Amino acid sequence: MSTIKNICCIGAGYVGGPTMSVIAQKNPNINVTVVDLNTQRIADWNDSDLNNLPIYEPGLDAVVGEARGRNLFFSTDVDQAIADAEMIFISVNTPTKTYGSGKGMAADLKYVELCARQIAKIATTDKIVVEKSTLPVKTAQAIKSILENTGNGVNFQILSNPEFLAEGTAMTDLESPDRVLIGGDQTKEGQQAIQKLVDVYAAWVAPERILTTNIWSSELSKLTANAFLAQRVSSINAMSELCEATGADVNEVSKAIGMDSRIGPKFLKASVGFGGSCFQKDILNLVYISKSLGLETVAQYWEQVIIMNAHQRSRFAKNIVKTLYNTVSGKKIAFLGWAFKKDTNDTRESAAIYVADQLIDEQAEIHVFDPKVKASQMYSDLGYLQSRSEAENSAALTVENDPYTAVKGAHAIAVLTEWDEFNTYDWQTIYDNMNKPAFVFDGRNILDADKLAKIGFQYQAVGK
Ligand code: NAD
Ligand code: UGA
Repeated sequence: MSTIKNICCIGAGYVGGPTMSVIAQKNPNINVTVVDLNTQRIADWNDSDLNNLPIYEPGLDAVVGEARGRNLFFSTDVDQAIADAEMIFISVNTPTKTYGSGKGMAADLKYVELCARQIAKIATTDKIVVEKSTLPVKTAQAIKSILENTGNGVNFQILSNPEFLAEGTAMTDLESPDRVLIGGDQTKEGQQAIQKLVDVYAAWVAPERILTTNIWSSELSKLTANAFLAQRVSSINAMSELCEATGADVNEVSKAIGMDSRIGPKFLKASVGFGGSCFQKDILNLVYISKSLGLETVAQYWEQVIIMNAHQRSRFAKNIVKTLYNTVSGKKIAFLGWAFKKDTNDTRESAAIYVADQLIDEQAEIHVFDPKVKASQMYSDLGYLQSRSEAENSAALTVENDPYTAVKGAHAIAVLTEWDEFNTYDWQTIYDNMNKPAFVFDGRNILDADKLAKIGFQYQAVGK
């Protein structure tokens, strides 16, 4: 059993919230306090109605319902939680830098640094500080230096414990992880700290799935895992363009290669492009690190994964314009889905944003339906691109609460997220209410092509 009695997690986001909920659920003897500067987010985590949690993740409500108030707490009192904890997870955002040197590539570590400074200021007892955020390799050195130079003479051990959960499946990923990775110093104190964190996970994870390494291997493995996963998507998306040009079917190609046990079947689904808060940011970070180390060829190799992804999004939008007789000006295009994947309300880097932006440039009128994403989020996503004014975005994009209203009178439907419910719609009614010819551009390859063709749709899917 763990000797840790109090855990603090700084950052109550998509990682901190679910991860700490599961740690608390599985370790009823440990008090877990998740803190955040964002008061609204914390209020939402504490909402008595579990439907109002700030993030949508299947199964999360039940776990929060079980542990919250027992040994799981959400708070804005960062200092108190730091003071009380023997182990502190840093789970704050590490977005791509938008200013200064490394702009557009390097990870912005200002939030992580602030956490380190806060811990250094508050701590009066020894602490194990755990990097849960995804960080550039060697960040632990910077955190250590801050803690040791501005602290109160207390002992700090830094561990790297990157998170591998995927949104939409976070709860099952956390319940039965392929592996838990813990990196730490190779000193006696480092090994003792590693063991304390191993004990926390051992409450529910089999020992052979808990991997311990040196700290740099752990930091770099996280970036490497995301780079390999994203590379698979870009690889199959590159093939999707070849399929379209040759009459091959990308689903058949995926199946054929995925049955080779050396390749495996997962992450071979061709799409309008990968989104999410991490793939692009982490690969850009890897590119930046490689460049900084003078490894130009390595940098270029990984950068191509991002270039391919941007190309795939843009090609999808261009194909809509081309198919709709080279103009979408004044035409209604319905979007089914805005989230970057199904079963999440997260929209960060979603392909839908970029496709919408490109079609709005062509003067299309976009009507979006997504079962979980709020209208305010969609407008904020478009605003973030800074392509046009708020008023222009509002005029060009309409958010609908009902899919049948979204598609009514549309010239085309673009499927941008693979929500299961899209398959259950009454596609005959949808067809009857659309402008003819009625086009469907399936960016996720999820609809039944034969069924739609029989109804009369002009159906196109990525890679077909
Ligand atoms: P997020 O933006 O959802 O959450 C981060 C939270 O940290 C925010 O609520 C923010 O208010 C808070 N925060 C920032 N600075 C703070 C401070 N000084 N004090 C208190 N709170 C502070 O981000 P996320 O998606 O949870 O990602 C967090 C980290 O985990 C990132 O490094 C990311 O790369 C990594 N990661 C994310 C995923 C994922 O699926 N989202 C998976 C694995 C790893
Ligand atoms: C990804 C990784 O899968 C996680 O292991 C990692 O922890 C996380 O990034 C992170 O570091 O943030 P996530 O981005 O939540 O998780 O979701 P994924 O399931 O990886 O999907 C990413 C994007 O790729 C989505 O837009 C998805 O639709 C797309 N994708 C995925 C495809 O287009 N095809 C596929 O075959 C698989």
